[in-house]
Amino acid sequence: MNKNIAVIKGDGIGPEIIEQAQLVLDKIAIKYGHRFNYTDVDMGGVAIDKWGEPLPDNMLDLCIKSDSVLLGAVGGNKWNTLPGHMRPEKGLLKLRAGMEAYSNNRPAKIWKQLASASPLRKEIVERGIDFIIVRELTGGVYFGEHKTETQNGIRYASDLLIYSEKEIERICRIGFETAKRRRKKLCSVEKSNVLDSSRLWKKVVHEIAEEYPDIELTDMLVDNCAMQIVKDPSQFDVIVTENMFGDILSDEASMITGSIGMIPSSSLGNGTNGVYEPIHGSAPDIAGMDIANPIGTILSAAMMLKYSFGLEEEAECIEKAVSDYLDAGYRTADIMPHHENEKKSCTLVSCSKCGTLISEFIV
Ligand code: IPM
Ligand code: MG
Repeated sequence: MNKNIAVIKGDGIGPEIIEQAQLVLDKIAIKYGHRFNYTDVDMGGVAIDKWGEPLPDNMLDLCIKSDSVLLGAVGGNKWNTLPGHMRPEKGLLKLRAGMEAYSNNRPAKIWKQLASASPLRKEIVERGIDFIIVRELTGGVYFGEHKTETQNGIRYASDLLIYSEKEIERICRIGFETAKRRRKKLCSVEKSNVLDSSRLWKKVVHEIAEEYPDIELTDMLVDNCAMQIVKDPSQFDVIVTENMFGDILSDEASMITGSIGMIPSSSLGNGTNGVYEPIHGSAPDIAGMDIANPIGTILSAAMMLKYSFGLEEEAECIEKAVSDYLDAGYRTADIMPHHENEKKSCTLVSCSKCGTLISEFIV
């Protein structure tokens, strides 16, 4: 198979983690006889410095025309004082919107080897953590009008949270379809006790539910959901929620699995061309130190093979290599156990060593 992959290294630890994912992809290409052609795309702070904007149109075009996009992370202190429309993050939002990637899939699954890295009590972890957050990605407050103004000497700022029923409908359908392939439980998360947009959300999700009689649908307020995720995460199978709630809950969900550095994501629209990225940020504080965990990016590459290219066996091969790497006791700093006893059976490795080892486990 011959595929063109747009590669956005981005800022901070982005280039380091992407390099490791490419190493793994190249190994897969050799093993299975595929050809992955990479095209570098500038986005984020690096694009601001080079081109004066976070995602120039010609760069977005490269992504749209590719078979899929692999992304590291964007953002950093250097660009934090720029106006909103010029920030690195705006490039990411333009990419998501430009590719119509409205459906963001963020799995929260605990690796058995990392159970002790979870900040949750052992008996909670043992009940199992394996759920997916389906986050709406191209609407809501992220894309509503942003305004800052001064009236009578007082500064005001507002961000509009707007959803059409069409936007809600299509993401809820993804939620139901995802649940159908899993344990058939869908939890719709909103804030319908306060927000109109959430009341519409709840109505629409129940209308769609008629088409899915086999799926058990529950409603949960977002504040309660934040609590339930730490109290008893085993109750969740699939969560479907709007853009900002999904942003916040997915960070929380990742942390209970041990480290945000382990979690991949896929963002897809109606076609097969998607954006694959770890859910963590650019971590400027550790950039260039070769200590980041590249596994979230490596697993994102595996998701790309599976969801965009239909290469399930290859994706499983990467997941198995990650599992073998963990079994062998290798750990980047973020997932190194705290207890002295457990530490003894682990080896601390760098970001680049992690990538090399995982690619070596692909034989
Ligand atoms: C994420 C990130 C982004 C988001 C930022 C970098 C704009 O936090 O992918 O979760 O808020 O969507
Ligand atoms: Mg986030």
